[in-house]
Amino acid sequence: MNNSPNLERIRSVFERSGVALSLADPEEADCPLILANAKFEALTGYRLSECEGRNCRFLQPGDGSNDMARAEIRAAIQSRGRRR
Ligand SMILES: Cc1cc2nc3c(=O)[nH]c(=O)nc-3n(C[C@H](O)[C@H](O)[C@H](O)COP(=O)(O)O)c2cc1C
Repeated sequence: MNNSPNLERIRSVFERSGVALSLADPEEADCPLILANAKFEALTGYRLSECEGRNCRFLQPGDGSNDMARAEIRAAIQSRGRRR
């Protein structure tokens, strides 16, 4: 995905969007972020350069308070993978 000729087109759409958007690459290990728009940076307080290469989970609190929600997300993602 990082080398996709479509990435620049996606970046252009992202920058014109009025909502926060980020894009992760499922073909890379642990699904790292490869793109985020200005709204995403404003919402999260992180610059794209700080997000790139990291899994979205870095946005979560690190105190374990979200373990159940995280397990639900993980199960949903795994189940989606099985249907492909
Ligand atoms: C396309 C996609 C977008 C995601 N966006 C977020 C997000 O914005 N915030 C977040 O906390 N987790 C997000 N996640 C979930 C985490 O990447 C991860 O799947 C989740 O924390 C469960 O896995 P873990 O237990 O290995 O952390 C996203 C996952 C995917 C596949």
